[in-house]
Amino acid sequence: MIEAFVNFKRDKYCGEVSTEDKGREIKLCGWVHRIRNHGGVIFIDLRDREGIVQVVVEESRNPTVYEKAEKVKPEWVIGVKGTVRDRPPGTENPKLKTGYLEVVCNELKVFNTSEVPPFPVEEETRVSEELKLKYRYIDLRRDSMKENIIFRHRVYQKVRKFFDAKGFIEIETPFLTKSTPEGARDFIVPSRLHPAKFYALPQSPQLFKQVLMVAGFDRYYQIVRCFRDEDLRADRQPEFTQIDYEMSFADEEEIMSVAEELVTELFKDLLGINLNTPFERIPYREALELYGTDKPDRRFDLKLIDLTDIFRNTEFRVFKTAINAGGVVKAINFKRSFLSRKDIDELTAYVQTLGAKGLAWIKIEKDKLNSPIVKFFTEEEKKLLKEKTNAEEGDTVFFCADSVENVHKILGNLRVHLANKYNLVNKKKWEALWIVDFPLMEWDEEEGRFISLHHPFTSPRDEDVDLLKEALETKDLQEKKALIGRVRAKAYDLVLNGEEIGGGSVRIHTSELQNIVFKLLNIGEVEAKEKFGFLLEALRFGAPPHGGFAFGLDRLIALMRGLDSIRDVIAFPKTQKGICPLTSAPDYVTPLQLKEVHIKVEE
Ligand code: AMO
Ligand code: AMP
Repeated sequence: MIEAFVNFKRDKYCGEVSTEDKGREIKLCGWVHRIRNHGGVIFIDLRDREGIVQVVVEESRNPTVYEKAEKVKPEWVIGVKGTVRDRPPGTENPKLKTGYLEVVCNELKVFNTSEVPPFPVEEETRVSEELKLKYRYIDLRRDSMKENIIFRHRVYQKVRKFFDAKGFIEIETPFLTKSTPEGARDFIVPSRLHPAKFYALPQSPQLFKQVLMVAGFDRYYQIVRCFRDEDLRADRQPEFTQIDYEMSFADEEEIMSVAEELVTELFKDLLGINLNTPFERIPYREALELYGTDKPDRRFDLKLIDLTDIFRNTEFRVFKTAINAGGVVKAINFKRSFLSRKDIDELTAYVQTLGAKGLAWIKIEKDKLNSPIVKFFTEEEKKLLKEKTNAEEGDTVFFCADSVENVHKILGNLRVHLANKYNLVNKKKWEALWIVDFPLMEWDEEEGRFISLHHPFTSPRDEDVDLLKEALETKDLQEKKALIGRVRAKAYDLVLNGEEIGGGSVRIHTSELQNIVFKLLNIGEVEAKEKFGFLLEALRFGAPPHGGFAFGLDRLIALMRGLDSIRDVIAFPKTQKGICPLTSAPDYVTPLQLKEVHIKVEE
């Protein structure tokens, strides 16, 4: 049945057959998408990368070809030589690019057969993700998947053209390297030649791109794979791609404008969408205060309203306990929501999954506040509460009382949950914004030390450097915390529709300041030298002022394609459990392989 592939150079892709081809005999190759046998006439939808075209095999015209066509099954790989003509009136398919044409088959070649695929190559397949990823090559034959991957290719090309035009130089940095701190765990690779030593896969090219600035390349970029061993979610993969760049002699404004220009251009050129520029800038603290998160989605309102002051002396135990413990009471007013008790119970159950102790609520009714908790409130509290939340008939006000971190987490998530559940998001709207004025460091209660909000190479604002020096001097922890709390970073995150699509900063370019920051982060001299000695050293040999940025390419593309999961824009992604069902990685290795890399595995 299978025929040799000789002398069958195709003339074009199936999806590209056009009226220009009418009357011509052309050769096409592809996969059998669908076959319909009407007795005497067989219709084959022939599919390739660019689309589908209908092939007609007529028994009367060519009985031998017809006989062959009768045996053909879906997903077989065939070649067709045939003449292009209009479809008979009434049989056109306007949904298909080639839907007004068909190819009358004169010759049919079977290049390969196919087993029945585990799921049909159709858009609406209800199969598990695991199965789809195991047979990814079948899954990728589906239109939407194929288009995602081709779209991704277009993004690469635009990105390269964009940076090249701006004088950026594409340079590859190593994968077998040392740990780069971006806050996740490293993937490590044992060394055969150096027993007990390991390479780490880079969490980002951060250190190398800085060293490239010291080397004088001035403007660098790379579309680069990064590796982070962290808990996976829909928007996170253990290996993902960044559009990474770094610039010398450029300040925050210039670095941010490059990112802004790139996103704007990608949206315009690839989607025909004009984003509003310049992107709005929101200080980090304000984002947390109003939206409970540093990546707010502002396509809907539902802001967090601080009511702590109103309830400072309240009799309501729940609020009193939280405030006395140094916490806050905040609310969200879901305007004109007319929620039922059942709706509220469901929302309560939702916030409990986030660790909330409860979800106090008030329904605003005509002349009355409907709620089991209002009996604890004074008239004054009720009045102020109504004023501050702008409560009107039909509204439901939700309250959260807890530590400020918990309140922000719970209400921040509830905000997004309400918006999704009650369709408050304007899906046609695009909102890009910068989060700026990040603090340089934060106190981490669990670790009992300060940690960088961005990464330890991020520069403080020039006017805040003295605060850092003072903080280093003082022994008093409270004073240290107060001083450091005031230090702002030259860092910025880019948020699109509530997702962080990138981040960057101006870097520290003197070893003196870098050492101060390491000390405050409790990274000792020995540790600093051991981990980042080469960077500290490089900073001593004429490091120019520099800074940069990295986009999460997968997230950006998923957003542009309107997809919830970045797995849909990656050709061979891992599952949520970090497994590749296609190759079954990670997998065991042979005892010899282990021995060669000097590793003993404990069962
Ligand atoms: P950052 O750690 O913020 O910065 O990473 C930049 C962007 O990469 C994306 N991202 C991810 N995407 C998918 N899966 C993941 N596991 C994942 N982790 C991060 C996010 C994020 O905004 N070196 C710095 C950049 C710099 O300062 O220049 C860095 O890596 O969209
Ligand atoms: P309780 O007195 O624990 O029954 O709580 C009274 C109301 O307050 C209930 O509706 C709870 O869901 C709600 N509630 C309890 N704890 C909190 C909290 N920390 N923040 C907001 N509401 C809460």
